[in-house]
Amino acid sequence: MPRYHTLGKIPSKRHITFDNPNGGLYQEELFGTSGFAGMSSLIYHLYPPTVVSEVKRLEDVTPEIAIEKNMQALSFQGFSVPQEDDYLKSRKTLFVNSDLHIGLAAPTAFSDGYFYRNSDADEMLFVHEGSGTMYTMYGELDFSYGDYLIIPRGTTYQLRFDSEANRLLYIESFSEISTPRRYRNDYGQFLEHSPFCERDFRLPKNLTTHDEKGAFRVISKKQGVLWEYTHANHPFDVVGWDGFNYPYAFSIHDFEPITGRIHMPPPIHQQWESAGFVVCSFVPRMYDYHPKAIPAPYHHSNVDSEEILYYVDGDFMSRNNIQKGQITLHPGGIPHGPHPGAIERSVGKTHTEELAVMIDPFKPLAITKQAMDLQVDDYYKSWITH
Ligand SMILES: [Fe+2]
Repeated sequence: MPRYHTLGKIPSKRHITFDNPNGGLYQEELFGTSGFAGMSSLIYHLYPPTVVSEVKRLEDVTPEIAIEKNMQALSFQGFSVPQEDDYLKSRKTLFVNSDLHIGLAAPTAFSDGYFYRNSDADEMLFVHEGSGTMYTMYGELDFSYGDYLIIPRGTTYQLRFDSEANRLLYIESFSEISTPRRYRNDYGQFLEHSPFCERDFRLPKNLTTHDEKGAFRVISKKQGVLWEYTHANHPFDVVGWDGFNYPYAFSIHDFEPITGRIHMPPPIHQQWESAGFVVCSFVPRMYDYHPKAIPAPYHHSNVDSEEILYYVDGDFMSRNNIQKGQITLHPGGIPHGPHPGAIERSVGKTHTEELAVMIDPFKPLAITKQAMDLQVDDYYKSWITH
């Protein structure tokens, strides 16, 4: 997050002694990305974060690919992903390329007894159903329906869900996830034409220092392999921190749509960007107001990017027979567009209640075996009229 934040107590300068009133010094850790050139935070622990009693290689969770090279429009029923009582087991990766993994999860719980750390990728969790709290060494973030949680790579976290009915869409991004650069000035501040501003972002709060010794299991993912590290001290033994690198939340319901007299292109819905993809939020909004405007999108060839649409809620205007949690994948290289009747149906409409998340990866996506279990038959034929 290109914005300074601090919680707890920190010394007056970096890299100087910081006395623990119970004896000794607090232990400073720089948590950064891109070597020492990216965003970072300075964190003050009760104990060194390096005290590890055991390291075990658990398993390789690299997704198994069913279709390496795809050029068909495909669709998947996301709510058919089975519920699981463990967070990591619940994560089903569906689409992959060298820039990102996209998946769905329906955890009934996180499972007590471990912490999770994705050392490979920044994570974006989109909360479709459920609510709860994310715990990190930076503090807590509450989440509920419609929230995006952005978790920088290497952040150790636990989730606590309020109930068993939870559905998440997630991205693992192998480059940093951030807000679009064009919406920020040279100082990082959101510009006036941005569809969101600083007030819409929720930063960690309620820093709790856990002074506990024992055997704390941190399951870390690196190069697609899960490793179990047993730490002698609680991972959240932090008394204070400051900096720019920390998890944060944004609700899709706080995205202020940009509208126009005639159809506005998809970039006006953009929410996040990375080196390898963009994410857009389609939210309830007034339709185009030219008297002859066609609110439905035109047919388009996104020649050199893929398009994943995840349907969250409302009546999605360009598609027929779409369910909550359904995914469409329109591959690059061929045209796609509204379903039969959608263009005509949209003329004269004044507003839409649709809610959807779009992910446009720039490189082709491979389809995993787990995705094939969710596939809708013959989606690519659904434009045929009889
Ligand atoms: Fe499209």
